[in-house]
Amino acid sequence: MSSESKAAIAEALSEARGRTLALIEPLDDRQLNRVYSPILSPLAWDLGHIANFEELWLVQRVGGREPLRGELGRFYDAIENPRKTRGELPILRDRELRSYMADVRERTLDVLDDVEIGPDVEDPLLRDGFVYGMLLAHELQHNETMLQLLQMVDGYEAVRAEFEPGADPVPECPEAVLIEAGEHAVGAPARGFAYDNERPRHPVSLPAFEIDRTPVSNGAYISFMEATGAEPPMYWERNVEEWVDTARGRRSSIDPAQPVIHVSWEQADAFARWAGKRLPTEFEWEAARGQLDGIGHGWEWTSSDFLAYPGFEAFPYREYSEVFFGDEYKVLRGGSWATHSRVARPTFRNWDLPQRSQIFAGLRCARDA
Ligand SMILES: [Fe+2]
Repeated sequence: MSSESKAAIAEALSEARGRTLALIEPLDDRQLNRVYSPILSPLAWDLGHIANFEELWLVQRVGGREPLRGELGRFYDAIENPRKTRGELPILRDRELRSYMADVRERTLDVLDDVEIGPDVEDPLLRDGFVYGMLLAHELQHNETMLQLLQMVDGYEAVRAEFEPGADPVPECPEAVLIEAGEHAVGAPARGFAYDNERPRHPVSLPAFEIDRTPVSNGAYISFMEATGAEPPMYWERNVEEWVDTARGRRSSIDPAQPVIHVSWEQADAFARWAGKRLPTEFEWEAARGQLDGIGHGWEWTSSDFLAYPGFEAFPYREYSEVFFGDEYKVLRGGSWATHSRVARPTFRNWDLPQRSQIFAGLRCARDA
């Protein structure tokens, strides 16, 4: 966001907040406070956490101000408070929650007036407005986790078209793209907003491989289930004649031409093997990025573990990426229908546990050439 002025930052912050509030507009306080799943936070926690993270970085850290609500922040620390415990915490709720969000925002805009954010400022948090890019991404990424939870809310009626899934159709038998052996630059350039785990940009050498131009369709996934008895994606149920999608308590026919989502890494990996192929590595995905279609309906599982790039430096805090590095998490690339365009960079690395399917994730296949 190097060229963004303070006015553009304020505008982007307001747009993101408008999106957050539009998501919860159809809900009452009881729904905001309810725990729907041990693997997802109650929405009230997300809302308070979004505001508290903003206060921590944009008011306390950048503005040097004291917290508005004393020790409240510790209940919103994502590492200290695993998702399954968040419903029991003494977090802000209802009117108090909304007024905290508004109070923080007022202070944020106050501080923004006073700070220097140009390309030459010494504090790397403020240089090129990095910390504001981080805050925007944070709120928009939480919008996506909130949308994951909203699939569990029966009768949820979205107030914006962007909160509904949907994609261009993809063929059941995808065309393969050949990528010749060679060296490819991967990762985010040094300037502009990107997370620490996307840096540094570095060369990787890849043998020749083929990757499907389009992701796996629902139709192809149904063939896989019929052939192997594999588990259906989350929210799918078998009616007498057909598969139906039960997200949000609706029952709509599964469209065979849409890319499949709500599959776990384990399911994705099994599908790829059944198809005589494999999952791409995250670098294969990034190297082929310019020739792929159908990106953006579902995150795409890769075969890669979430690891540090050579020369990685944690910034601005270890808990964003570094504590998750290792072989426990698998990398996803691309973005989903619920991902804001500001988040879905070609170098963005998402990660999750291999058994998780509440995220909007599918796959595309690759193979050695
Ligand atoms: Fe967060």
